[in-house]
Amino acid sequence: MSDQIKSVRGMPAILPGEVKKWQFVEAVAKNVLHAYSYNEIRTPVVERSELFQRTIGENTDIVAKEMYTFIDRNDQSLSLRPEATAGIIRAGIDQGFFYNQTQKLWSIGPMYRYERPQKGRYRQFHQINMEAFGFPGPDIDFEMILLTGRIWKALNLSPLQLELNSLGSPESRKEYKRQLQDYFHDHQKELDEDSLRRLDRNPLRILDSKNPDLQEIIESAPKMVDFLDQESNEHFEELMAMLQDHAIEYSLNTRLVRGLDYYTRTVFEWTTDQLGAQATVCGGGRYDALVAELGGKPTSAIGCAIGLERLIELVDVSGQNEQNNPSKIYIVAVGSKAEGERFLLAEELREAYPNLSIEMNLNGGHFKQQFKRADKAGADIALILGDDEISKQTVGVKPMRSEGHQETVDRKELLSIIDQFL
Ligand code: HAM
Repeated sequence: MSDQIKSVRGMPAILPGEVKKWQFVEAVAKNVLHAYSYNEIRTPVVERSELFQRTIGENTDIVAKEMYTFIDRNDQSLSLRPEATAGIIRAGIDQGFFYNQTQKLWSIGPMYRYERPQKGRYRQFHQINMEAFGFPGPDIDFEMILLTGRIWKALNLSPLQLELNSLGSPESRKEYKRQLQDYFHDHQKELDEDSLRRLDRNPLRILDSKNPDLQEIIESAPKMVDFLDQESNEHFEELMAMLQDHAIEYSLNTRLVRGLDYYTRTVFEWTTDQLGAQATVCGGGRYDALVAELGGKPTSAIGCAIGLERLIELVDVSGQNEQNNPSKIYIVAVGSKAEGERFLLAEELREAYPNLSIEMNLNGGHFKQQFKRADKAGADIALILGDDEISKQTVGVKPMRSEGHQETVDRKELLSIIDQFL
């Protein structure tokens, strides 16, 4: 016997039992996105590596350490997408999406990052992503917070915490970066290896460090909010005023810098205390400079992504799954004529009732075996075809979930009265 082939680490299958929960959560999120006028876009899983290097940033963990990159047969460097935003912009520029128009786009799908797998962190994971292009003011920032908040509400989650920060304009951030480098250079002796590595290239990421020994130095470090240019400051103040006016709780987290380089101004994350270390369920922010950097017309933009594995972990679907399951009919057929007839009956039912789940017995077997299978399949009713039914042109109808008796109905009438049994 040959050796069994193992799955790729950090890339689990989502099994049929769990898929129901995924479908439920996806359907709720899609309804909310629709209610906010977002349109779905589907972009490729593979892009040129350069796209991610130029957008997410060469010095980020994602690009430097976590990309699945390979050379194709045409000697081109391609990567599995570690996130969706870059590909959506690329497709949008290709299609002329950013000329004198606004766009609200959403997408869903798998992303790939070579991270250390643990609970809530995988190498293949799924995101629901939303991006809004052509809206420079803070009202879209606020609307995106409302939208994501509505998804949590529609899923009946216990409250998530909203954290906010502003990273200012690229220029004000450059100045901040310099100040931060000076400050951490002065404390170089106290820094750990990770932070020393980040010091020259990506000092903002030092603020993200979880090392308890560094917390004091980080707390006293210069803060981006004190370096904001006037316009970014006004933008941020307006957003916070809208949140306050609508009584939406948030906390200002001056250390929130996000793991991707493209952000400008508003950044935000929704976190929970129910998932342990992987606490961020959704993260995003503005990236007003990125479309132009990739060769498009200057276009203001904001977006965020929800990590579906984490979101699904938080959702309690008890009761809801049952309602979502379609009624199921199982066709029991014994005898050669009945076995021929079962296909006709099943197809007629599928044609007339596309929302029902119709399963017919395969693999033969006597009545008792077939009823057992019907029960195991979770059927609501079994339809019975035997020699007797075939010769009298009838069908037996047996309730599988209640005590009701088996009835015999006319084959011709079955389709019009089947709902009475469900
Ligand atoms: P991100 O913060 O890298 O942002 O990812 C967004 C969310 O995806 C995270 O908050 C988390 O829930 C989930 N996530 C990330 N990595 C993993 C992983 N390895 N396993 C499981 N879940 C994970 C972005 O990806 C940006 N593209 C968001 C965005 C859209 N910004 C603007 N537009």
